[in-house]
Amino acid sequence: MHLGQRLRRWRQHRGLSQRQLAEQAGCHISLIGHTEAGRKIPTAAVTAHLDRVLATDGDLAALLPTRTPNGVPNQLPPVSAQLYGRDHEWERLGALAEHSHVIVTGEAGIGKTSLAVSWASHTAEFPDGILYRDLGGEPDPERVLTGLLDDLGHAPPSGGIPAQSRLLRSALAHKRMLLVLDGVDDAQQVRPLLPNLLRSRAVLTSRSDLDELVLDGHSEQLRLGPLPPEHGMQLLTHGPATAVATDATELDSLARRAGGHPRTLRALAHGLPGIATPDRGGLAA
Ligand SMILES: Nc1ncnc2c1ncn2[C@@H]1O[C@H](COP(=O)(O)OP(=O)(O)OP(=O)(O)O)[C@@H](O)[C@H]1O
Ligand SMILES: [Mg+2]
Repeated sequence: MHLGQRLRRWRQHRGLSQRQLAEQAGCHISLIGHTEAGRKIPTAAVTAHLDRVLATDGDLAALLPTRTPNGVPNQLPPVSAQLYGRDHEWERLGALAEHSHVIVTGEAGIGKTSLAVSWASHTAEFPDGILYRDLGGEPDPERVLTGLLDDLGHAPPSGGIPAQSRLLRSALAHKRMLLVLDGVDDAQQVRPLLPNLLRSRAVLTSRSDLDELVLDGHSEQLRLGPLPPEHGMQLLTHGPATAVATDATELDSLARRAGGHPRTLRALAHGLPGIATPDRGGLAA
């Protein structure tokens, strides 16, 4: 089923006419009509917005074609939010050419995926495309490998992980691609996915330090800490929280309680209960 057919199903499921959906989503009715008829593919940002309006839990975004019209894959998931701060880390990612892999590490919700995906979507350094895998959703390295090979147009060879890993290497050998591996658990999970990538590069995100990969000598580690107060405040003030807490002192105290933790700040900004993390459990109350 293509994206347009799924959009029609969801719209009808919600009991909306095309006009009503267009009004709720703030877009032109022709966009809905053309998309449903398969004549148009909305941008990732518009698709993410339609997903939100129809409360589909990302169902439509998952159907976005993973190839741009010129045939170059771009599998990055849509990033809806503006990225505040992280200028220094952005520059470090820009120096990626010196290392085969960069591992972005830090605690849950600190902004690893946001940084990696935003940066990858802005870089023009990888003309042969960007492959993305959420290893939290698919942790099995063999299945990830066969999926990547499939995306590159290769049937997985017999001979298990070593043969597949070799094929991935040769498939990437003459390309300049970026591989984004998000939510890596441990070094074992990604070793077969990271043969010497030659001209291609990889960005990994992980809650763990993955020191073993750094010791292998091909990886640089980029550890994310809390956002500095001015960027924390920006994140907080760009949401409904401003309506509730217009008082500067109150905002300041909310920002300090969140300790520069983006997911907590975002939750506060949306007026939702905070996400409980071991050291910030108080916010959930
Ligand atoms: N620099 C930032 N500016 C604005 N919003 C941010 C920033 N960093 C993170 N966020 C927001 O904070 C939330 C958590 O970020 P993200 O999902 O990137 O964290 P993570 O470190 O990948 O977490 P996990 O370990 O659970 O995968 C998201 O809603 C994201 O939009
Ligand atoms: Mg993440």
